[in-house]
Formats: sequence, C-alpha cells, structure tokens
Amino acid sequence: MSLVEVTETNVYNAFMISQQCLPVAFPLKFFQESLKNINEHDSSIYFSKLVLDPKIGYPVGCFKAKMLFKNSTSAVPDGLYIEVIAVCANYQNKNYGTLMLESIEDVCKDNYLRKITVHVSIDNIKSLEWYKKHGFQQTGKALPNYYTFKNGSKMDALVLTKHLS
Ligand SMILES: CC(C)(COP(=O)(O)OP(=O)(O)OC[C@H]1O[C@@H](n2cnc3c(N)ncnc32)[C@H](O)[C@@H]1OP(=O)(O)O)[C@@H](O)C(=O)NCCC(=O)NCCS
Repeated sequence: MSLVEVTETNVYNAFMISQQCLPVAFPLKFFQESLKNINEHDSSIYFSKLVLDPKIGYPVGCFKAKMLFKNSTSAVPDGLYIEVIAVCANYQNKNYGTLMLESIEDVCKDNYLRKITVHVSIDNIKSLEWYKKHGFQQTGKALPNYYTFKNGSKMDALVLTKHLS
C-alpha cells in the first residue's frame, strides 16, 4: 500500500471518499484549498494525502491536516490539526487508517510539531476507540452541536489530542 500527495489530478478522489465515509459534507473546494498556490490569500499550511489499495491501484482513503498556530500573529506552530481522515467502508480494518496516522506523525516530526488534535463526533465510538488505541486522549468537555450532519441533525464533538515525544 502506498500514500500519494493530493494533487489537482486526484483531488476529486479525496472529495468522493469523504462523501462516502463521513456524515458531514465537505465541499470539493475544502480539499482544493490544500493544493499549493490555489488561494494566495490563504496562508494556512495544509498536508493532504490519499492511500492507494495495491490490488485495485485506486485511492481508498484520504486525510487532510492543517498546521495550527496559537494565534494569527504567532510564527511558531502549535501542532497539527486533522481536519479529515477517512477510509472507504470496504477497505477499513486493513491498516490504511494507521498508515495515514503514521504519515501525519511523520509530518509532525519533519516540522517539529509536538501535538496532534482532532475533533470526533461523540457517537463515532469506533473512531474514538481507534484514536485512543493510537495514543490520543480526550481534552476538555464535549462541544455541544459542533457538527451538522448531511441529514440536518446536530452532534456534539470531543477534542482528542496526542502529544509526541
Ligand atoms: C477511523 C478510520 C479512519 C480508521 O481507519 P481503518 O483503516 O479502518 O483503521 P485501521 O485498519 O488502521 O485500524 C482499525 C482496526 O483494524 C485492525 N486491523 C488492522 N489491520 C488488520 C488486519 N490486517 N486484519 C485484521 N484487523 C486489522 C486494527 O488493529 C484496528 O483495530 P481496533 O479498531 O481494535 O483498533 C476508519 O474507520 C474510517 O474512515 N471511519 C469512518 C470515517 C471516520 O469516522 N473518520 C474519523 C473522523 S474523526
């Protein structure tokens, strides 16, 4: 299995995977903003990759992460925030999620980032357990109605954090 950068050519795959896997709708432009030089007014630093299944040679998972700063004037990054991580249902439990998490940790090491943060909806028990198994811990209380799902329902979110040594 291998990871490839999200590019203009394959960004639609990332969008489609998120559409299939997540209860929240992320528009195509949400993934396009991670492409370098696409928006000169956006100074955010993004990292996004697709995971390819070797048998079909096609993307089956994706992540998009963003470098976090304490505030808009801060020059020193505070960590990495996972905006999206998803594996297509038929390809889950094959280590693709773990592979992407390892890639996210490599991004942190390469950029001297010591903290990874993610929001998880409170009803997503599988993902909550998965993150905890990978060293994430809940920080703070649930954020009420943080998510609006495609069906219009609202869901609380938990903040999970992993500190890297
Ligand atoms: C959360 C998510 C990204 C995890 O991805 P994944 O590829 O299924 O994760 P992994 O395969 O690395 O690990 C899942 C489990 O499969 C097990 N597993 C991995 N490889 C395996 C194999 N070859 N054989 C059997 N089990 C295996 C792992 O041990 C792990 O077990 P655990 O759930 O008890 O921890 C995925 O479930 C997903 O996309 N969910 C829907 C979207 C979502 O909720 N995203 C998170 C939003 S914050």
